[in-house]
Amino acid sequence: MKVAINGYGTIGKRVADAVSLQDDMEIVGVTKTRPTIEARMAVEKGFDLYVAIPENRVKFEEAGIPVKGTLDDLLKIADVVVDCTPGKLGVNNLETYRKAGVKAIFQGGEKHEAVGCSFNSLSNYSQNLGVDHTRVVSCNTTGLARTIFPLVKEIGVRKVYATMVRRGTDPNDSKKGPMNAIIPVLKVPSHHGPDLKTVIENIDIDTMAVAVPTTLMHLHCNVVILDRPATSEEVISIWENTPRVKLVDGGEGVISTAQIMEMARDLKRGRSDLNEIAVWRDGVHVVGDTLYYYQAIHQESDVVPENVDCIRAMFRLTEDNLGSILKTNKALGID
Ligand SMILES: NC(=O)c1ccc[n+]([C@@H]2O[C@H](COP(=O)([O-])OP(=O)(O)OC[C@H]3O[C@@H](n4cnc5c(N)ncnc54)[C@H](OP(=O)(O)O)[C@@H]3O)[C@@H](O)[C@H]2O)c1
Repeated sequence: MKVAINGYGTIGKRVADAVSLQDDMEIVGVTKTRPTIEARMAVEKGFDLYVAIPENRVKFEEAGIPVKGTLDDLLKIADVVVDCTPGKLGVNNLETYRKAGVKAIFQGGEKHEAVGCSFNSLSNYSQNLGVDHTRVVSCNTTGLARTIFPLVKEIGVRKVYATMVRRGTDPNDSKKGPMNAIIPVLKVPSHHGPDLKTVIENIDIDTMAVAVPTTLMHLHCNVVILDRPATSEEVISIWENTPRVKLVDGGEGVISTAQIMEMARDLKRGRSDLNEIAVWRDGVHVVGDTLYYYQAIHQESDVVPENVDCIRAMFRLTEDNLGSILKTNKALGID
């Protein structure tokens, strides 16, 4: 499959690299609006560069950054575009993609209703088989789906209460905060609960969220009322057998998101990313039918393998989700 990336930023450049590692898809081009260092590095990496705003082409020429054409030109040679433009902006491109006859994947910054379909590799791959447009749910929703869906399948879930402690902004951002404050989302439920329902039908979940002054990861404090009494060992064993969930241990010194990201750096993956959701093994507690656990989300990278699987589902390259998940994981070197 020929894949275009529109919006080569935090998510876009990671998806571009991940797609390049697969044997059934290739990147035919990425877009930038401005001749930044990211644009120059995309070319140095070997990606063909296209301008998302045609009037800006001259600026790239002045900066000595070669461009192959415009977004319209790129869409002519692509089978699918992964739209990774900033949140709420992507959906404005839907009509352009439709007219160009290319399938399109949007990201979690767009609303489900605007796209009409949402995707998570584990929980609703089959609903996305053959679709023309869909949206990979946000980093937080992906994290919730990864750990909650296996519980739905294996034990049954009556109700979820989840609190998202969200990073203020990404590490590359010097403009946003908070710098010295904790900001609660006063609307309850926060958008994460309703968003999870777009990929796990009939899940009963309430969510709250706060933003804190960190850039490394999000952290979730989750309470799940199970359909029946269970044990911590049973729940841990389910997650040990769930792809893209990584158990970590406070007892081994992983007492915060700082040590998780240090572990990710030691793993020596591209950009020191951690595509898996980290769950604290010794933070899992089951009392009767109630499960308490903490998980950490590397917001810049957990959705990246999902975008790869999403392409496979849209083109029916692999009919079953596990087939695609394992293929993607192998190519990316993740668990
Ligand atoms: N970062 C996260 O934690 C995260 C996690 C999961 C999902 N998401 C979602 O992923 C999407 C992208 O987020 P992001 O964090 O990757 O944003 P980002 O880092 O700001 O990257 C977006 C890129 O799009 C480019 N862009 C801006 N306007 C454009 C336009 N009109 N046409 C084409 N490209 C344009 C910008 O680069 P130039 O203007 O320099 O070309 C920018 O680098 C959003 O929906 C977001 O909600 C983000």
